[in-house]
Amino acid sequence: MDSSIKFHSCKVILSEYSVSVYLLLWSDRERQRQRSTMGFARFCGCSRWFIVILVSGLVLAEMEMVASIGINYGQIGNNLPSPEEVVPLVKSIGATKVKLYDADPRVLRAFANTGVEFMVGLGNEYLSKMQDPKQAQAWIKSNVQPYLPATKITCIFVGNEVLTFNDTSLSDNLLPAMQSVHTALVNLGLDKQVTVTTTHSLAVLDTSYPPSAGAFRSDLTPCLTPILNFHAKTGSPFLINAYPYFAYKGSPKQVSLEFVLFQPNQGIVDPSTNLHYDNMLFAQIDAVYSALGSLGYTKLPVHISETGWPSKGDEDEAGATPENAKKYNGNLIKLVSRSQKKGTPMRPNSDLNIYVFALFNENMKPGPTSERNYGLFNPDGTPAYSLGLSATDVSTNGSSSSSSSPPYAGGTGSATASSGTPSLPATTSTGEIPFALASMLGSGMDDDEGDHPFGVLNIFSTFSSCQNLEEVAVVVVQRSEK
Ligand SMILES: *[C@@H]1O[C@H](CO)[C@@H](O)[C@H](O)[C@H]1NC(C)=O
Ligand SMILES: *[C@@H]1O[C@H](CO)[C@@H](O)[C@H](O)[C@H]1NC(C)=O
Repeated sequence: MDSSIKFHSCKVILSEYSVSVYLLLWSDRERQRQRSTMGFARFCGCSRWFIVILVSGLVLAEMEMVASIGINYGQIGNNLPSPEEVVPLVKSIGATKVKLYDADPRVLRAFANTGVEFMVGLGNEYLSKMQDPKQAQAWIKSNVQPYLPATKITCIFVGNEVLTFNDTSLSDNLLPAMQSVHTALVNLGLDKQVTVTTTHSLAVLDTSYPPSAGAFRSDLTPCLTPILNFHAKTGSPFLINAYPYFAYKGSPKQVSLEFVLFQPNQGIVDPSTNLHYDNMLFAQIDAVYSALGSLGYTKLPVHISETGWPSKGDEDEAGATPENAKKYNGNLIKLVSRSQKKGTPMRPNSDLNIYVFALFNENMKPGPTSERNYGLFNPDGTPAYSLGLSATDVSTNGSSSSSSSPPYAGGTGSATASSGTPSLPATTSTGEIPFALASMLGSGMDDDEGDHPFGVLNIFSTFSSCQNLEEVAVVVVQRSEK
């Protein structure tokens, strides 16, 4: 047989991790001749190629080191789709992390073996009860443990924005509840895989501008300090809900819309650090780092447990439009997923860990109209607005006639593929594909045209929709030791 196998490899640096990419190509040379060019653009266009992804448990674990967006899955609505229907929606936006406000067993079951990481919540109403180590252990035994490891629950957040309620009966219970949940995890041998934290409103800050002057409300520090000790001791992240939207809504005349929406703008310079900020979210995050630093906690990771922008609001809610929501969330998702721009000015080497709020418009949320309109999706699963990502990012249809293949259809393809005759596309020069692949992984591909902002996972799901098995390539992504 007139055939050959070609092996390409390359290394790309994704944030702190070095990722090796191996591309193994083989194809039928006869068919190959009929093709003039087999450039990578076409490759990506998915017309001929099928990617088989060898996902071992190890590789899967390593893939999660690639930064990607998280999504809040709130369920305060009476018209939301079943969790099974939600799985493809989460994948369609490239999200690999989901934050739940409870530990809904239907959701945890639906996402089993999807590789999606979960943060589950214990609402404020549980704080008093969870101080009792026995109750905490019972809760974990029935709400977390049964779903591990098929569903990747990695974090439990105990209480939501507790400190800014100014209710001491609530905040006094916070740390004891966190501690007994953690102790229960230790007793069950789960503390290495599941961390314990809580979420805060940005209103825990007294000063947030300039970022270097960030400081916590002084009345909160007695309560906050032992919580920060807990984080430092157990290795859990500090979680903050940050909404530049609120700043804009509060003073639409003073706050630059471009600055809050990640649009091109002059930005601001922090006078004491000389660091340049071109968006408000990064300034807010760095204000939190400053506040933590001023209390002596310079190493705690900060994750953004909520941020988002409503697509609709009341008359007095400036800026709540689909256009602005598209810019905020679309730009943010691209920013997070592009590896060459990781971190904030103050923490350029830290991954951005951000959960967009929210997956759905939730019709039963109280409050102003905006509260019910933060969703990327309508309850029927249609996008609330376009996120401005390319068709392949949001389409689940694939290019050709498709019998709805599962997101990681690679496994089934590999069996069929072995019948193919190995050969290298003559027009593909050695090195070209690895380079293209590297730039795809590294930058989320061509910046504006063919947006692939979701990195590896999204590429995989894009390829998995190919039905044509004439040629097969194998990609293995590994995280190598630094
Ligand atoms: C809580 O107290 C702070 C500081 O005294 C105040 O600024 C804030 O408005 C209060 N928040 C609520 C929800 O009462
Ligand atoms: C999938 O294809 C159908 C039929 O062509 C179309 O109606 C639907 O909008 C498509 N869905 C997506 C997500 O592109």
